[in-house]
Amino acid sequence: MELFEAISKRASYRGHYESTPVPRAHLEMILRAGLDAPSGCNKQTTSLIAVDDATLMAQLLDAIKPDADDPHPVVGGTAPAFICVLTRRLVAYRDRSYFMQDYAAAIQNMLLAAVALGYESCWVEGYITDADKLGRKMADILGVPEEYELVCYLPIGVAVDPVRRVSKKPMRERAWFNGFGKE
Ligand SMILES: Cc1cc2nc3c(=O)[nH]c(=O)nc-3n(C[C@H](O)[C@H](O)[C@H](O)COP(=O)(O)O)c2cc1C
Repeated sequence: MELFEAISKRASYRGHYESTPVPRAHLEMILRAGLDAPSGCNKQTTSLIAVDDATLMAQLLDAIKPDADDPHPVVGGTAPAFICVLTRRLVAYRDRSYFMQDYAAAIQNMLLAAVALGYESCWVEGYITDADKLGRKMADILGVPEEYELVCYLPIGVAVDPVRRVSKKPMRERAWFNGFGKE
């Protein structure tokens, strides 16, 4: 798939997934796309864990399932694979760490790679980095050392439901040539 087609096709998918496994070769391509992303001072603060083992997937989903009174299912709860995104807050320059920019770039590369290969996904970060620290629970299941934070997971799989696109503001409200708000 052409790059600009993948960019325009990408959307956060929160529907059901086909149970068909994602081939390892595809997961590796998506991981590689993430690792190929830029990082501040090339510190490469992002690490990744692809999970495609059904028992492990069930353990992760059990750890992050919503409270009994919450009607919303876990995003990607039927996906055959997750990619978990880990970060370390390493100092890159003076007292600055670019860990967040680093993992955001890696995530976006992986979302585009997933779409290019015919899969859907969703950037799930807010849900697992809230006060209940679900990311740490996932990290413990995956044997992640304490100095790494599990900040996001990306479900990966083939969509069953239609992919809905949210509307974006018109370009003229957010991007200009030669000065703020210019035509
Ligand atoms: C930093 C960040 C955190 C996000 N966390 C979640 C999340 O926890 N759950 C979720 O369903 N979507 C999450 N999203 C997806 C956004 O809701 C989504 O990107 C936004 O609504 C725009 O829709 P689009 O991705 O289809 O363009 C997150 C996106 C970003 C960039």
